[in-house]
Amino acid sequence: MKTENPSPASPNSPSLTAGIDALTVRMLGTGCYVPERIMTNTELETIVDTSEEWIRTRTGIGERRIARSGQATSDLALAASQQALETAGVMADELDLIVTATISPDMLMPNTACFVQSRLGAPAATCFDLEAACSGFLYSLEVARHLLLAGRMQTALVIGAEKLSAFTDWDDRNTCVLFGDGAGAVVLRAEPATTPVHGILSSVTGADGNLAHLLTLPGGGSRHPTSGETVAGRMHYLKMAGREVFKHAVRCMSDAANGALQKCGLTIDDVDCIVPHQANLRIIQAIGQRLNVPMDRFYMNLERYGNMSAASIPVALDEAVRNERIRPGDIVLMVAFGGGFTWGATVMRWGTAGNGR
Ligand code: COA
Repeated sequence: MKTENPSPASPNSPSLTAGIDALTVRMLGTGCYVPERIMTNTELETIVDTSEEWIRTRTGIGERRIARSGQATSDLALAASQQALETAGVMADELDLIVTATISPDMLMPNTACFVQSRLGAPAATCFDLEAACSGFLYSLEVARHLLLAGRMQTALVIGAEKLSAFTDWDDRNTCVLFGDGAGAVVLRAEPATTPVHGILSSVTGADGNLAHLLTLPGGGSRHPTSGETVAGRMHYLKMAGREVFKHAVRCMSDAANGALQKCGLTIDDVDCIVPHQANLRIIQAIGQRLNVPMDRFYMNLERYGNMSAASIPVALDEAVRNERIRPGDIVLMVAFGGGFTWGATVMRWGTAGNGR
C-alpha cells in the first residue's frame, strides 16, 4: 500500500529529527465537551416561525447545545483539551503547539489558543488560532502535522471550538435552526513510523475565495468596523445563502474525500468509518450517493448537536472512538466544507501497531 509518508524507517528510529520520511503523526487521544443546555426544535418554534418537522426533515437536526452566557469558546475548548490530554496520557507541559480552529474566538485578539494555554499550563507551546470556518479543524490538523513532521516540535494539541450561539441571528430562521456550541480536541505526536503507518496517511485542503460572499460574518472586522449602523444591520451575525452552500458542499466534500484517498493509495472501500462535517443530513446522504457508500459507514451526531462548525468533526471523532465505532487499525476518513469556501479531507489509520490505542 502506498502512503504519502511511506516511512520505511525501523520502529527503533533513533531520532525524531531524522527527517520527514522517518516520522508519522499519530493521534494519541481525543476529547470533547458540549454545554449542558439543550435547545430542542420545539423550543425554536417559540423563537422563530419554524416547525420541529421542517427542521428535522430539511436538516436532520433534532436539538443543539447552547453555552451559558459568560461561557466563552476557550472555556469549551479547555474542557475538551483536558479530556484529550488525559486520554492521551500527555501532560500539558509537554505541548509544543496549540492550534485552535474557530470562527467564534473569545476576542479578535489575543487568540483563543493563548487562553487555553494559560489555563492548561503549557508554557512551552506556540499558540495560534486558525480560521477556515467548518473546515478549520482539518486545516489545523494539516498545519500542525507539517510542523511536527518538520522535526522541530513533537507534541501538539489541535482544537475545534465554537460558541456559534453568540454569532447567530435568533430572528433569522434560515440560519438559527442550524448551529450549536461545542468543542473537540486531539493530541498529536510525531513518532518514528511503523509499517503499516499508524496515524495520518494523507490530507488535502482547498479553497475558493470567489464564493466567499455566500457564507459570511460581515460586521466587526476592518471592512465594516463595529458601529451603530453595523449592529442595526445585524452584520455581527452569520449570513448564509443556504441553497448555494448546499450544492457546493456536496461536490467539494466528495472530491476532497476522493483526493485524500487517492493520495494515500486507498479507495473508499478501504474506509471503515467516515467522520464528515455535520451540517445537514441531506448533504451527507448526497455525498454517500456520489461516493457510493451506505449511510452506516458515516458517523453522525448531527441530530443531537446541529452544526458546530470547526468543532463538529473533533466532537464526532471523539464520540466514535469512545463508543468503539472506530477501532484500532481502522481506516478513518474525515471530510469538511465551510465558509470561504474552504474544504479538506484527511485519512488516518487509527491506533498504534503495538498496543492498539
Ligand atoms: N423553518 C421553516 N421554513 C424555513 C426555515 C425554517 N427554519 N428556513 C427556511 N425556510 C423556508 C424558506 O424561507 C423557503 O421558503 P420559500 O420557499 O417560501 O422562500 C423554504 O423554507 C425553502 O428554503 P430553501 O433554502 O430552499 O431550503 P433548503 O431545502 O435548501 O434547506 C437549508 C435550507 C439551510 C437547511 C439548506 O440549504 C442547507 O442545509 N444548506 C447548507 C447549510 C450549511 O451546510 N451551512 C454550513 C456550511 S458548512
